[in-house]
Amino acid sequence: MKTNHDDLKDTPVTVLDFSKWKKQGRKIGVLTAYDFSTAKLLDAAGVDCLLVGDSLGTVFQGRPTTLRVTLDQMVYHAEIVARAAGRALVVADLPFLSYQTSPADAVAAAGRFLKETECKAVKLEGGVRMLPALEAIAAADIPFMAHIGLTPQSVRRLGGYKVQRDAEAILADARAVAAAGAFSVVLECVPAEIAERVTTEIPIATIGIGAGPHCDGQVLVTPDMLGLFDEFQPSFVRRYADLGAIVSKAAADYLADVRAGRFPSKDESF
Ligand code: KIV
Repeated sequence: MKTNHDDLKDTPVTVLDFSKWKKQGRKIGVLTAYDFSTAKLLDAAGVDCLLVGDSLGTVFQGRPTTLRVTLDQMVYHAEIVARAAGRALVVADLPFLSYQTSPADAVAAAGRFLKETECKAVKLEGGVRMLPALEAIAAADIPFMAHIGLTPQSVRRLGGYKVQRDAEAILADARAVAAAGAFSVVLECVPAEIAERVTTEIPIATIGIGAGPHCDGQVLVTPDMLGLFDEFQPSFVRRYADLGAIVSKAAADYLADVRAGRFPSKDESF
């Protein structure tokens, strides 16, 4: 008997599934991943797409922005996550200044993920202003996810992490990235009505983060939704677990056992 979850079994997700799912109205679930064990758990849970986001600059490296993340660091994490994934489509972020400098640099940077890792696609920020780079990446046959609305690599120009409300500019960016060949587009921090308009108008799947319920899919930064990252908490994040409290308690229990001589036991010794 066919179930709703048949498409979650076995067959690896490809970039073509995003448009298929958009047409079917099947919502797409994306989470970020940066390491092997977490990526394996998320993949086994049926996450459709693992994004090796440059958000690792904040939640993994503990920096205030993503600006200092390097291409070598992204390739390192992308290679690890892609090895852990069985079914999920693994997409890797191009970090700041790896593609803004020229279309040729963009192709060279994007190409590293396909040549040096098993990632199947890249993501880069920017709409109309990034068109030459997007077109060059598409011409090189490298599938890409676009990212518009609040683009964290533009934080200095935007003057902070603010909701983006210019509907016409967001629509122009969305049309531009779809025409350039993106297989999907992240909409970050845009009002729900604008995200709905974009989702209705463009043929590619929209993946929202702080963009309301009408997008074709949603993405969250995994340490945020697991309660592992406390430095700041955007209001659009829903916490599905409080792993921070579990880790703290486990560490405290371990220390108490070590200090009381309860660990290791005879069975845990040779
Ligand atoms: O870097 C990242 O993790 C992202 C997502 C938040 C969309 O770009």
